[in-house]
Amino acid sequence: MIKFLDLKIINQHYEEQLKKAFRNFLDEGYYILGSQVIQFENKFADFCGVNHCIGVSNGLDALTLIFKSYIRLGKLKKGDQVIVAANTYIASILAIINAGLEPVLVEPNEDTFNIDPLEITKKISDKTKAILAVHLYGMLADMKGILEISRKYDLLVIEDAAQAHGARDMDLGRKAGNLGDAAAFSFYPTKNLGALGDAGAVTTSDDSLAKMIYKLRNYGRSTKFKNDALGYNNRLDEVQASMLNIKLPYLDKENEKRREIAKKYVSEINNKKILLPYWDGSKNHVFHVFVIRTKNRNELKEFLLKNGVETLIFYPIPPHKQKVFKSWNNKSLPITENIHDEVISIPLNPYIKSRDVEKIITALNNY
Ligand SMILES: Cc1ncc(COP(=O)(O)O)c(C=O)c1O
Repeated sequence: MIKFLDLKIINQHYEEQLKKAFRNFLDEGYYILGSQVIQFENKFADFCGVNHCIGVSNGLDALTLIFKSYIRLGKLKKGDQVIVAANTYIASILAIINAGLEPVLVEPNEDTFNIDPLEITKKISDKTKAILAVHLYGMLADMKGILEISRKYDLLVIEDAAQAHGARDMDLGRKAGNLGDAAAFSFYPTKNLGALGDAGAVTTSDDSLAKMIYKLRNYGRSTKFKNDALGYNNRLDEVQASMLNIKLPYLDKENEKRREIAKKYVSEINNKKILLPYWDGSKNHVFHVFVIRTKNRNELKEFLLKNGVETLIFYPIPPHKQKVFKSWNNKSLPITENIHDEVISIPLNPYIKSRDVEKIITALNNY
């Protein structure tokens, strides 16, 4: 069986380095916000091309801290509206709500799966103060279009870059994490840059935002025994930071490998019942997942299973149809609903064997 993703095999490539780093960690005996967190923050800020990276506990906390910090700084206030793609992962929406803001769901573009700038304009009201641009499945949202709107209406632009580490916007010449006012990353183990547990980061070149997030992630303290804000404990763990320090230098090469496999899928999967993902072939996509569409997804899933290929669905139920969002359940978002009914992801990772890629292509063409 070709597994959808075997993290053990992926992390085996770093095993000796990871063990050595853990040994060093034990020898050093410094457990919270130590040298590994600082090193990672510096390296990841450089990688993204921003002035600050603040290591935090996970991607959801990274997003929530950005919104809460903007409220503390007076740039947002409770009840302000934040525009977000309706087909995003639920965490993007939770962050907006948990910070006391109101999410406004906008349909994605059917081809790119990312928020449609034309639809954004239709949803802007006096209460709209920010756009959360999610780079879904690893492909950058239309940042040029989004930034134009943000300038016209004076909106903050926050990136949800949880799935897009290292993706480069070819128009803007900058990477994910450096395309708006601030960005949130998740290093959940399955991500392109994955830790061995929960981890996340905020990137920004806004000095006052960075200062506030440094403070809020660590009880609101400005120095060891001075607290001047009502803070949280949202720190990046030292062990996870040391794992990320080992993996970061390989990220660009691994993303390139993901694109090579994607290129092969795009050129060799040839079945009228399967819709392949749109991609312009550039580095704006890091293929966190390779998402195809088909009318009878369960049938395809079963067929592939019988042919030894495991698949996963990102995501089977859109946020507005979730029980937790009862007031949205009758909302009509047809593009989002179609996408959620038809998408299915096939295995793609930098260490997948060539013969498995061939097997997957053959199985899909035989469907
Ligand atoms: C688009 C998106 N945003 C936010 C998150 C939240 O990240 P985390 O799981 O690290 O909290 C995820 C992770 O699954 C995600 O895919």
